[in-house]
Amino acid sequence: MSFNKTKEVIEEGDVVILYLNPNNIYSLEVKAKTFNKKAELVDNVFQTTYGALKVISLVGQKYGSKIELTKGWAHVLQPTPELWTMILPHRTQIIYSPDISLITHLMELKPGSTIIETGTGSGSLSHSLIRVIRPNGHLYTFDFHEQRVSIANTEFDRHGLSDFVTLKKRDVCLDGFGEELKHKIDAVFLDLPHPWLVIKHATVVLKQIGGKLCFFSPCIEQVQRTCAKLICEGFIELNTYECLQREMNVQYRSLPILDFECLKYKHTNENITEKNERRERKQEGKLLTVIHAQSLPGHTGFITIATLPPSCHRCTQK
Ligand SMILES: C[S@@+](CC[C@H](N)C(=O)[O-])C[C@H]1O[C@@H](n2cnc3c(N)ncnc32)[C@H](O)[C@@H]1O
Repeated sequence: MSFNKTKEVIEEGDVVILYLNPNNIYSLEVKAKTFNKKAELVDNVFQTTYGALKVISLVGQKYGSKIELTKGWAHVLQPTPELWTMILPHRTQIIYSPDISLITHLMELKPGSTIIETGTGSGSLSHSLIRVIRPNGHLYTFDFHEQRVSIANTEFDRHGLSDFVTLKKRDVCLDGFGEELKHKIDAVFLDLPHPWLVIKHATVVLKQIGGKLCFFSPCIEQVQRTCAKLICEGFIELNTYECLQREMNVQYRSLPILDFECLKYKHTNENITEKNERRERKQEGKLLTVIHAQSLPGHTGFITIATLPPSCHRCTQK
C-alpha cells in the first residue's frame, strides 16, 4: 500500500521496488506466500541475478536500505510513479516521465483537481495523475479494452490508490463520459487513436470556465485534425509541444591546457621556436567536464493543450 503514502519501514502487504542496478528494477508485493505456475501456494522467494530473496524478510527493513541477497545486494525503495513507469508490465504503448511532467504542468493539475483520462492503457500516466490530485481530487479513467481495465483495476487496488480513481470500461468515442460528470471536470486528457471523436464529449463534462483539454498524438496529422475540431468546438489558446529530454554526461577528460605565457610570446615574437611549439602542444590535463550524451532520445509524441473559455465567449467566437 506504499504508493499512497511515504513510510519509514516496510510492512507486510506493501509494494516495494527492488533496485539492483539501472537495468534490473522490480516491484514486489511483500507477502509470505505466492502461487507458482501450477497454482500451488509456495514460499514467496524472488530470484534475481544476484541470488534469491525471501520476500517476507523485507518486513521491518527501512525504505532506502541496502539488503543482502544470496549472491550480492540490492536496495529496497519506496515505489513512485516514475519508478513504476520504468518497470510496469506493458499492455500498450505508455507515456514516459518527461512527457508526463509536461502534461501535468500544462493541465494545471493540483491536489483537489477532478480529471478524466482515456485510454487507461497500462496505467503509466494514471499513477502520476493520481499523485498530483490526491488527497481530495479524483481521476476518472476510461478504456474500452476489458482485460486492460481489469488489470489496471487490480493494480490500483494493490497500490492502495482505489479511493482516488474510478476506472470504467467504455468506448468514449461512441458513448462519451456520462451525464453524471457534466461540467464537473477540470481537465480531460486523451491518449487514443481518434482524439477528434472525443472533443464533443469533452465539452459536456469540462467546467464551463477555463477547463483544459490535453491530448497526446504520435503523428502530426492527428494533431492537425484534432486541433481543427477543437477550434470548431470553441476551444482557445491551442499550443502543441514536443518534449525532448537531453542527458548531460559528467566525466573527466584529457584536454589540452592553454599556455598563456607561450601565447603571449607568440604574439610579440613572430619567430617562435619549435621548442615552444612543442611545449604548447604537450600541456594536457584531466578536467571535469559536462558534455551532451551522444544519442538523443527520439520522438515520442506531440502534446497539445487547449482551454475552454466561458460559454458566452464561445458564442461570440463562432
Ligand atoms: C496508448 S494506450 C494509453 C496508454 C496510457 N496513456 C499509459 O500511459 O499507459 C491507448 C489506450 O486507449 C484505448 N482506447 C482506444 N480507443 C478507445 C476508445 N474509443 N474508448 C476507450 N478507450 C480506447 C486502448 O484500448 C488503449 O488501451
